[in-house]
Amino acid sequence: MTIEQTLTDKERLADLDLDQLKQLVGLVEYDSAADPFPVSGWDAVVWIVGNATQTAHYFQSAFGMTLVAYSGPTTGNRDHHSFVLESGAVRFVIKGAVDPDSPLIEHHRIHGDGVVDIALAVPDVDKCIAHARAQGATVLDEPHDVTDEHGTVRLAAIATYGDTRHTLIDRSGYSGPYLPGYVERTSTHRRRDGAPKRLFQALDHVVGNVELGKMDEWVGFYNRVMGFTNMAEFVGEDIATDYSALMSKVVSNGNHRVKFPLNEPAIAKKRSQIDEYLDFYRGPGAQHLALATNDILTAVDQLTAEGVEFLATPDSYYEDPELRARIGNVRAPIEELQKRGILVDRDEDGYLLQIFTKPLVDRPTVFFELIERHGSLGFGIGNFKALFEAIEREQAARGNF
Ligand SMILES: [Fe+2]
Repeated sequence: MTIEQTLTDKERLADLDLDQLKQLVGLVEYDSAADPFPVSGWDAVVWIVGNATQTAHYFQSAFGMTLVAYSGPTTGNRDHHSFVLESGAVRFVIKGAVDPDSPLIEHHRIHGDGVVDIALAVPDVDKCIAHARAQGATVLDEPHDVTDEHGTVRLAAIATYGDTRHTLIDRSGYSGPYLPGYVERTSTHRRRDGAPKRLFQALDHVVGNVELGKMDEWVGFYNRVMGFTNMAEFVGEDIATDYSALMSKVVSNGNHRVKFPLNEPAIAKKRSQIDEYLDFYRGPGAQHLALATNDILTAVDQLTAEGVEFLATPDSYYEDPELRARIGNVRAPIEELQKRGILVDRDEDGYLLQIFTKPLVDRPTVFFELIERHGSLGFGIGNFKALFEAIEREQAARGNF
């Protein structure tokens, strides 16, 4: 498959071209014919929350997403509301219980608001499931067709860490707004005058937090079951502050569109941010979603004006001569980055700009990263120490450090 053919319809509709995608998310060419579990990209990130009505509003009003589809009591689904939101090629599905006996209630009681399903677009659901099963994966949903007047989708699902799953979707024979059972829906929400069309265009990576000692097991799962390859490795002291540490490895699908860093806590003097997550999420789960933007400065300004809070970066970070020498020239003056707390990292391929929100939900669990890549295919390893020290200050303020 050529790299041109790997552009999804969503990406085309979001006015994303190949060069932008290479820059935004580090898309690369690869031979999918030799892949035992070909994945073409992200399909959706599915959330279960305590109040889907309000969360859907928040993602529209604060994050500039657009409501495109809905399922709920008025469409024959009496169990829950489900709002489908998009920003460029990113699709979120926000679910919240209506029926007090909905199975979503128990999931939410245990985990709070969070990501339940990282759904992936695959060209051949049956091939993937056959391979996953042969490799010992837990198949949660057997391959099956769902049909409505817009066509047919083929779906299946496998379990990953914690209560998280990967739904596998082939929607090549479907033209509806999301899935059968959903209707097209728009919202009366209007962006403010002068606001950009969208604040982010693509999903770059989704990070999973797993228990102490389990990271290599899950790296092995993605290698074996899904044919993902290892991208980068951060171990031990790479991500240690004076007090806490974590280990992280990154796996990616063939075209690098789907990247999964996996973190586990490391033994240290104090409880790491990963331990805090595992305590409050009641187990492994999705820690952060990195949203690729082509203008991180504007995105941060817009989000800040909407009340979204970011982790503060100490002034010392920007004044550090070693850092300044290492990052060299970037597209904006350091002072502009400093004003917003945007971090910079550079490697042999280029640089990236990134920033992290505070937790988005009531528990100190899931958060967003905004990332603007300029050649670098990394994850900001040079920033991990500064970042974790910032997270630890927040953790201490919450009394969990
Ligand atoms: Fe990240």
